[in-house]
Amino acid sequence: MKLLLTHIQELLQVRELAPIFLKGEAMSELPTIKDAWVLVNHGVIEDYGSMDAMPKVKGFKPIDCSGKIVMPAWCDSHSHLVYAGNREGEFVDRLKGLSYQEIASKGGGILNSAKKLQETSEDDLYHQSEARLKEVMKMGTGAIEIKSGYGLTTEAEMKMLRVAKRLAEHYPITIKTNFLGAHAVPKEFKENKDGYMDLLCNEMLPQIAEEKLADFVDIFCEEGYFTVEDTDRLLSEATKYGLRPKIHVNQFNSIGGVEVGVKHNALSVDHLEVMNDADYEVLQDSQTMPTALPGCSFFLGIPYTPGREMIDKGLPLALATDYNPGSAPSGNMNFVVSAACVKMKLTPEEAINAATINSAYAMGLEKTHGTITKGKVANLIITKPIPSYGYLPYSFGSNLIDQVVLNGQILE
Ligand code: NIG
Ligand code: FE
Repeated sequence: MKLLLTHIQELLQVRELAPIFLKGEAMSELPTIKDAWVLVNHGVIEDYGSMDAMPKVKGFKPIDCSGKIVMPAWCDSHSHLVYAGNREGEFVDRLKGLSYQEIASKGGGILNSAKKLQETSEDDLYHQSEARLKEVMKMGTGAIEIKSGYGLTTEAEMKMLRVAKRLAEHYPITIKTNFLGAHAVPKEFKENKDGYMDLLCNEMLPQIAEEKLADFVDIFCEEGYFTVEDTDRLLSEATKYGLRPKIHVNQFNSIGGVEVGVKHNALSVDHLEVMNDADYEVLQDSQTMPTALPGCSFFLGIPYTPGREMIDKGLPLALATDYNPGSAPSGNMNFVVSAACVKMKLTPEEAINAATINSAYAMGLEKTHGTITKGKVANLIITKPIPSYGYLPYSFGSNLIDQVVLNGQILE
């Protein structure tokens, strides 16, 4: 379908030459065109400009966007969208006073989700995940990273990744997959974590690489989960298969995970609720994108990633949902952007940059997603009539999205 969006009140994130990512002060600039048009053809952004210089074009379906804002669809660079069942019971236990860590140490948490997932058929898992994917697309997400990590056996990890790949075949959203077999140590290996590390390195990684099921590799580097040494070992192995790391670090403790991630040229280090000077230092001038997950901080009631400090220190920052059943059961990037402003003190410009071009970079999609640039994939959000883009984070909890365009098609 060819689309011509006209009379757009303001077109956001317009970059003739798209940057790879933005950091520090550059994050506060959000280039826009007021009273604009965009031409979409063959699934890509063909052209755009100001209404006073709109060329006459034929054969396009015109869409009047008066009063509305058009912007690149959100890029969600960290999710666990493929999972089975839910953990509502644990949520209520937490409300009654148990901590996330206490629940995990009793065999709940990730192991609870793994048990459910192992008992769920691949088709059922697909349909449960499909419902969540449709929901996030409606909320304006145009590209998403999906992790494994609730399988914890070779077969169940591969099942998760096959489901993510199958979703990618059936839906216009762009999907990147991440192998997170090192999410928790399964019960059977409780006294033998090295045995599980051997399984990860010698069986899971080679098979997943052979079947090309993953774009990235991940590990939960945290006290009670995997050590810095485990992380170093897994990432060294993964490099042999060309899998770039995107890892979970510094959620509860700073134990050196950021450093080991940067050492292995991780594409991103995610969570970062707890940061020290050495962590900031090692990120300076690296190619690793620090990624904040404010939905997780909100839901668990843990500190927010010091995103303001990071940007003030000249670092880049990306935003993602962490959509998962235990620590962030929401895939709503609109809420994430709002929470980043309210709780992390990002400006609307910074938050929008963090949730578009920087999060595109954090999943290797910066050349094709995250900005309004000629030739990029036509993944667009068309808002309802709103006074300005600051209204997006301001009006938290309201659905301000009118239409979503993915791969040049209007989402029905
Ligand atoms: O990113 N921190 C590790 N993993 C997920 C949550 C896992 C779970 O509780 O199911 C996260 O928060
Ligand atoms: Fe996560």
